[in-house]
Amino acid sequence: MHFQWYPGHMTKARRQMQEDMKLIDLVIELVDARVPLGSRNPDIDELGKNKARLILMNKADLADERQTKAWMEYFQQKGYFAVRLDARSKAGMKAISAEIMKACQEKIERDQKRGIKNRPVRAMVVGIPNVGKSTFINTYAGKACAKTGNKPGVTKGKQWIKLNRNVELLDTPGILWPKFEDQQVGLHLALIGSIKDEILNIDELSLELIQILKEKYPGVLKRRYGIEEDQQPPELLVAVAVSRNCIKKGNEADYSKAAALIVDEFRGGTLGRISLEFPEGRETV
Ligand code: G4P
Repeated sequence: MHFQWYPGHMTKARRQMQEDMKLIDLVIELVDARVPLGSRNPDIDELGKNKARLILMNKADLADERQTKAWMEYFQQKGYFAVRLDARSKAGMKAISAEIMKACQEKIERDQKRGIKNRPVRAMVVGIPNVGKSTFINTYAGKACAKTGNKPGVTKGKQWIKLNRNVELLDTPGILWPKFEDQQVGLHLALIGSIKDEILNIDELSLELIQILKEKYPGVLKRRYGIEEDQQPPELLVAVAVSRNCIKKGNEADYSKAAALIVDEFRGGTLGRISLEFPEGRETV
């Protein structure tokens, strides 16, 4: 299965992001906790150089807790601040605020030395499609929070939203494009829904998913669909179709329906908390 990404207007998006970077102190980068490296575009390291950096491992509610913990350590060792998150819930706010303050400590101290007091930290949210950027902005800085409006002469056309007393957020996220040479990463991004389904072959995608589940999360397919796992992915897909009554006219198994079902159930977390990418040295679960 081959995935391709056509950057299209990404040059424009990149230029816009370069401009926005001039206005901020902190880059809040969202990644998908199930594919934490594959769902990053490493170009952000160049775009956001000299800025404080915070990685939010979003959709942590869908990812394998042990792997997420290991990934947090991985990012922290590389010098990023990192927090796990479910962007749909406000519960993570306290941890994020604390981490933002830690990430911006140097800037805050610099301000204090210059006699600047209480200047809020300014941040922007970035990430590839579908990692939860809009959800994050809505949950944490949505309707309930007052917009600060444009600051004449400085940020023409920009809207800042107050996250709290100390932090202001640019109201539009920076969209990065998925970047991968490795087809394995392409597969992972397709599975988490960061590549448009219209250009994907869901039947093939489901077979790849079945293979991953068999290898990394034995027992999941049996528990969910009541099927024996010692079969090859195509047979397992048929077994899922039969188990879920995905049957076409003429009493034939409807693979495509079963394929869509299993991919959907993975994406929605119905199959359990499953990570697709594992930090080095932790290949097995
Ligand atoms: P984007 O701006 O980065 O493109 O992503 P967006 O916020 O649109 O989120 C993409 C999908 O991911 C949405 O689901 C959203 O609800 C879901 N989502 C965001 N954060 C989390 C999270 O932490 N955990 C889980 N489980 N889901 C999350 P959707 O199916 O497109 O819409 P809907 O389900 O909200 O109707």
